[in-house]
Amino acid sequence: MAEKGGLEGVVVARSRLCSIDGEHGVLIYGGYDIRDLAEHSSYEEVCFLILRGRLPSRAELDAFSGDLVAARDLSEETCSVIDMLAAGAAPMEMLRTAVSVDSVGDPDRASNDPDANFRKATRLIAKMPTMVARYDRVRRGHEPVAPDASLGHAGNFLQMLTGAAPGPSAEKTFDVALILHADHEMNASTFTARVIASTLSDMHSAITGAIGALKGPLHGGANEQVMKLLLAIGGDRDIDLEIRERLARRERIMGFGHRVYKTYDPRAVILKEFSRQLAGESDEPHWFSMSDHIEHVVLAEKGLYPNVDFYSASTYHYLGIETGLFTPIFAMSRVVGWAAHVIEQHADNRLIRPSSEYVGAALRPYVAIDRRAAETTPV
Ligand SMILES: CC(C)(COP(=O)(O)OP(=O)(O)OC[C@H]1O[C@@H](n2cnc3c(N)ncnc32)[C@H](O)[C@@H]1OP(=O)(O)O)[C@@H](O)C(=O)NCCC(=O)NCCS
Repeated sequence: MAEKGGLEGVVVARSRLCSIDGEHGVLIYGGYDIRDLAEHSSYEEVCFLILRGRLPSRAELDAFSGDLVAARDLSEETCSVIDMLAAGAAPMEMLRTAVSVDSVGDPDRASNDPDANFRKATRLIAKMPTMVARYDRVRRGHEPVAPDASLGHAGNFLQMLTGAAPGPSAEKTFDVALILHADHEMNASTFTARVIASTLSDMHSAITGAIGALKGPLHGGANEQVMKLLLAIGGDRDIDLEIRERLARRERIMGFGHRVYKTYDPRAVILKEFSRQLAGESDEPHWFSMSDHIEHVVLAEKGLYPNVDFYSASTYHYLGIETGLFTPIFAMSRVVGWAAHVIEQHADNRLIRPSSEYVGAALRPYVAIDRRAAETTPV
């Protein structure tokens, strides 16, 4: 068994999708540096790249974007489940359930063929933003806002969420944030999706499981915890003291550290600049300055760099997005990566079925229930 556990360093699949150079802080999707994609591409273009393995022509992008627009509406069943959950379910509970329910009406639900999987991936990418926006509006007592075919993926989501057309800079920032979260090699939720796909189960089951894995605070749930930390510290407290005390109590500072990056996460570099810019336009610049301060303290004290979740928190907050939606937004973006991994797994499948090292009791005789003494009960 690997010394540290957690499958660290274990290669579980061959993939053409995404690669991380953790020493140098470089992340590539299908051969393209995410810094180039963030600067020049849209989320729709990046989805095509991840699903098809190459950048689209103009005509291909128009057709794919049109397919996404056409698939944004939800079925009546999915709407009614979301509306029912809006009052009591947490955002990730809602999303996990809504994606699962959505399989019921999907015309390709019985097929794992590559074309059927591509169509299901397209529909899930298109529908998850509608699910999140509808849930948020219903739980606030507002009417849901219908998708707007004239807007791109990022702008349409922001409009469905807030009811107002976003400005170009908010739309661009959000689009880049979606690009940066679209895939990330063999992370915990992607592995979950591949394990489920490897049983020859279906796309919706794999994505539902992946959402469950993303929800945890050691994975996608960290972005919400970062914002909670910023809000808890507030503007007044001594940040150096606060962080040092938390570290002395052996608490984890959310948004720092990574299994693969041993330097600055390149996604955090880009998001930090967005957070800085938005702070400059905001009457609450302290969320950025606090984040920057915390970054310096954690680096000095622990040698840990920020990961994608650290500056996405203040960036989303500046965009007016409520903290509880940060992780569903991560899922809304990552769905393309999960789906591409499912397609890749189905294309060259062998059941993922690892082993465990048994550390339980040695073989022993069975004792009938009325002759069992309390002390023979194993712990
Ligand atoms: C991401 C993460 C789970 C990776 O963990 P990992 O590869 O399993 O690393 P480990 O948990 O073995 O941590 C190694 C050491 O660094 C410390 N460490 C790692 N991340 C830390 C953090 N965010 N804050 C404080 N200490 C941290 C651990 O306590 C451990 O110290 P120790 O050896 O003295 O016990 C971990 O860095 C973490 O919990 N980060 C916070 C959650 C987060 O931001 N998740 C989003 C990831 S994109």
